[in-house]
Amino acid sequence: MGSFIINGGNKLEGIVEISGSKNSALPILASTILHGREYIIKNVPDIDDVRRMLEILILLGCSASYENGCCYINTKNLNTYDISDALSKKLRSSIIFLGPMLARNKMAKITYPGGCDIGSRPIDLHLYGLKKLGVDVVEEGEFVLCTADNTHNSDIRLGYPSVGATENIMLFALSVEGTTKIFNAAKEPEILDLQKFLVKCGYKVHGAGTDTITISGDKDISHDETVEYSIISDRIEAGTFMALAAATNSKICIKNADKDHLSNIIKLYKDAGCLIDDVEDYIYIINNDRIKAVNKVVSRPYPGFPTDMQAQLMASLCISDGISFIEETVFENRYKHVNELNKMGANIVVQDNLAIINGVNKLHGDTVNVRDLRGGAALVIAALSAEGKTVVDNIHHVNRGYEKFAFKLQELGADIIEN
Ligand code: UD1
Repeated sequence: MGSFIINGGNKLEGIVEISGSKNSALPILASTILHGREYIIKNVPDIDDVRRMLEILILLGCSASYENGCCYINTKNLNTYDISDALSKKLRSSIIFLGPMLARNKMAKITYPGGCDIGSRPIDLHLYGLKKLGVDVVEEGEFVLCTADNTHNSDIRLGYPSVGATENIMLFALSVEGTTKIFNAAKEPEILDLQKFLVKCGYKVHGAGTDTITISGDKDISHDETVEYSIISDRIEAGTFMALAAATNSKICIKNADKDHLSNIIKLYKDAGCLIDDVEDYIYIINNDRIKAVNKVVSRPYPGFPTDMQAQLMASLCISDGISFIEETVFENRYKHVNELNKMGANIVVQDNLAIINGVNKLHGDTVNVRDLRGGAALVIAALSAEGKTVVDNIHHVNRGYEKFAFKLQELGADIIEN
């Protein structure tokens, strides 16, 4: 499953270019099945999750290839409604095919996505929204069969602004006659990116980025020309490099990040003592000293502090002055990196969903095990700030979501090799 061998302690310096957003790319790739046509999706990160998404498209009868950051997709020959295999074997986030598959085929067969390394991933909100639009949901053993023969528009109020549910309902509602409104929708920048892509395809959607999204169904979409679209940059990758600069007393210039998507992360590291400035396409972050502990940080849906940055923030607070508190409210089981950080000399205590980080003077190298994507990035940050050698095992989790991570770190002067 691969390892990173890291000799920590180097101060890093240089420019890192941020790739396209994983969390935008995946739903946009899935939504290409809405309508059989050709697509060129640009600025797509070269990561394992994208490769798996393309494999799923091929499994569904479409053609899909990747070259130099571009995906070339043709979905005219989609030939199945069954996404259960893709869900159980390829990629749990392939639940995002449910909405567009139902919109295109009026039928979709899925398995429950089940648990994963950061806790269970229920789909009750996805199904709630689809049912409100007239979808019939029947459980058959481990499978769920959804049919969309008698659909109607509706107002849908989500009990929680789930990113996945918002995307699935938005995508399905495009096939439903009349106007559908999603209230308490997720407001993440990736939802806005999906809306921009859909508008480029000719659909009528607005409101993404606010908590009410309005979708006007258009059954007779007849735009057949190739759609070209470029994905936004990855705010979580940018945040990860900010956490790295803070942890390793480094000077990193982050290119191509959208600072508006990073405002709470920038504020947090400024409060912790880092110097941060932005000029045009660049965010400069300089940290000369040990950072200060932070007041309680609570992970919340956007524009709150992202759950996808919780682990990297924690890694950067291991060596700090004082005691920091982090509360994880989005996922129930997202502290699997804590034991590994403690193995490296950190002093973190977890009480339910609250992590108490007692800043220490230094970390030391060890052999640590990655359990999930962002936890893996956190262990790499900790290893680069530690004294001595660290072996980070099971890095396939990291390669799911970070493009050329080791290479980008090497370019900044890190002593890291991928094995
Ligand atoms: C979540 C994150 C997203 C992140 C992604 C990958 C939030 C709100 N969502 O999106 O920012 O990029 O993981 O790490 O920060 N839930 C239900 N029922 C459902 C759907 C979700 O109870 O039908 C619960 C989940 O168990 C979880 C919470 O809602 O506790 C957030 O889930 P959701 O936003 O749907 O997750 P993702 O779309 O994976």
